[in-house]
Amino acid sequence: MDDIAPGSKNHSSSIVLRTSRVMLRKLRSLYRRVSSVQPLKPVEPNRTDAVYDQDGLRSVHDHSFMNDPSFRKAYERGVQAAGECGWHWRVHIGLWAAKSASRLNGDFVECGVNRGFLASAIMEYLDWDSLGRQFYLLDTFNGVDERYLSAEDLKFGATEKNIRNLQSGFYVQGVELVRENFSQWKNVQIIPGAVPETLGQVAAPQIAFLHLDMNCAFPEVAALEYFWDRLVPGAFILLDDYAYEGYAVQKAAMDEVANAKGLTIAALPTGQGLLMKPFVSTVLLPVLT
Ligand SMILES: C[S@@+](CC[C@H](N)C(=O)[O-])C[C@H]1O[C@@H](n2cnc3c(N)ncnc32)[C@H](O)[C@@H]1O
Repeated sequence: MDDIAPGSKNHSSSIVLRTSRVMLRKLRSLYRRVSSVQPLKPVEPNRTDAVYDQDGLRSVHDHSFMNDPSFRKAYERGVQAAGECGWHWRVHIGLWAAKSASRLNGDFVECGVNRGFLASAIMEYLDWDSLGRQFYLLDTFNGVDERYLSAEDLKFGATEKNIRNLQSGFYVQGVELVRENFSQWKNVQIIPGAVPETLGQVAAPQIAFLHLDMNCAFPEVAALEYFWDRLVPGAFILLDDYAYEGYAVQKAAMDEVANAKGLTIAALPTGQGLLMKPFVSTVLLPVLT
């Protein structure tokens, strides 16, 4: 206890002093806590207790989907098809869109399949054959068709990238391994050849899910335009490369298509783009008087 008279000048100075000491103690303790925080460590695949840091995406946000047994089983099926690619968050988005689309009528289509990572994961996740619908899988199974690379694509080094992907074995060459991978399911149609030439082989009258992943703007735009009327209202269109670093040509082309339909594409931090076919017509109706 001190013996300073209440109301005196000394009394108010002593209150200020005590308050300052308390604040100083709080600041010291805060500093100790902050300075003891460890620097962020990159996540190892399949761990959710740290930072997600792979595939061009670094995030502290919740990625506990990586612990979900059904996600893990689906992801592992993708790995079985194509090897580990570090695509957890991208696959999470793909599974979400596919599961949402499975509540709609219509078949699924993927243009740009390669060894079948995402399609295999989706089919595993949804117990594909139990849904009684077809999954159409279109690919050259021999890399990007260079006839469809634009001058801009060439400027961005698309030819060299294609050669690298073929030589490293990232791009499959030949359809046999792919057929073997998908032989687990019966409701699947593998269509080898170049898009857009092969689009006419897709017999689906209605489509609920369209995944475009050809790393090339021209066939992707052609496929989206070709299937648009067959996409059911609410259908999900997932664009693998839309916002991915190095794919500005595809983004510009897809924005043009979407804008012409009065729509915009959501750019996802995974590098994907997501579009939903609207339930209502985007054409403005005349106002009745
Ligand atoms: C990035 S890979 C697709 C990856 C696949 N979605 C996955 O989940 O693993 C791109 C694929 O697009 C294919 N492709 C590129 N241009 C094409 C075209 N015009 N027609 C058909 N396939 C094409 C390539 O052969 C390659 O397999």
